[in-house]
Amino acid sequence: MPNRRAVLAAIAGAASLALTATACGGETPRAGSEGYTIGIAMPTRASERWLTDGKSVVEDLESKGYKTKLVYGDDDPKAQVAQIEELVQQRVSALIVAAIDNKALNGVLKQAADADIPVISYDRLILGTNDVDYYVSFDNEQVGRLQARHIIDKLDLEEGEGPFNIELFAGSPDDNNTKFFFDGAMHLLQPYLDNKQLVVRSGQTDLDQITTLRWDGPTAQKRMNKVLADTYANRTVDAVLSPYDGISIGIINALKEDGYGTAGKPLPIITGQDAELASVKSIIAGEQSQTVYKDLRLLAEAAATMVDDILNGDTPQLNNRRAYKNGVKAVPAYLLQPISVDKSNYEYILLGSDFYTAEDLK
Ligand code: GAL
Repeated sequence: MPNRRAVLAAIAGAASLALTATACGGETPRAGSEGYTIGIAMPTRASERWLTDGKSVVEDLESKGYKTKLVYGDDDPKAQVAQIEELVQQRVSALIVAAIDNKALNGVLKQAADADIPVISYDRLILGTNDVDYYVSFDNEQVGRLQARHIIDKLDLEEGEGPFNIELFAGSPDDNNTKFFFDGAMHLLQPYLDNKQLVVRSGQTDLDQITTLRWDGPTAQKRMNKVLADTYANRTVDAVLSPYDGISIGIINALKEDGYGTAGKPLPIITGQDAELASVKSIIAGEQSQTVYKDLRLLAEAAATMVDDILNGDTPQLNNRRAYKNGVKAVPAYLLQPISVDKSNYEYILLGSDFYTAEDLK
């Protein structure tokens, strides 16, 4: 097994490696950190990834000498507003926010701005307000491109194979990432839809027909049940574009209910995102085909470093100032690179980076 540092260098590049290096040992807190409390508002405890995000951000901030207050909104936009309101009233020194509904936070962020509390939009861009200072995330269009690339490779579309039946799923309509994932994927898939190597038999190709509120697996399962019943009585699905592992699991459940997953009727190619444990196990078992790995520890470290820079009066490290426009301004961003993971490389990427242990994947 390659050592962790070598893998991280290979997959994440030098900038991310520098962030990791600071995360490894305890740090000497900078002058400004003592007595400062950072508020962290995360969207949900229902998905494993956000638990990892919360834990990692807390650890990274504490290793820099900060105190933290971590709250989870349990997918309820109103609850998240109330939680952030409370953090503002407690006069936290900075806020790190992963929004549930990207347009629901304008009022409470105005309160934060009035109290001079800097706000970092974490993973999901907050829209429609000037009161968000920075954005830290992954290259979200690239996530979609990686999902599409997997489908193109597995179906040999570049070699002219087809026609194949594909169905499209997207994320929550109130999450700005949803459009980025979908646009990134469609950028690569559209030529094959145009020349009919790929056919969406349900006819549901517009983003508003294929979204999945709150990224909910059972919601996706219901939609897949209906698509199969309505359109696939005498046909087979060859591929499903899924933006997120929880949704992929729902889709797989619906397909299995319909008799897929046997020698005579194999499961289609199914993409995903987040490298959640259940989905990595599903990939190893030959069910889900692919996921997109985003090293959340690097994201958390980037957010913590950003807070530390802001509170010490330094300019945070940024690598994208233009792409993420929130309707009011282009929010200066630091973006990390996602990585496509399938059966051929999961050991190298996920074990090699210590994201999981071999024991976890049993
Ligand atoms: C998105 C995020 C994805 C996935 C999804 C569902 O905002 O970028 O990685 O986690 O939410 O939680």
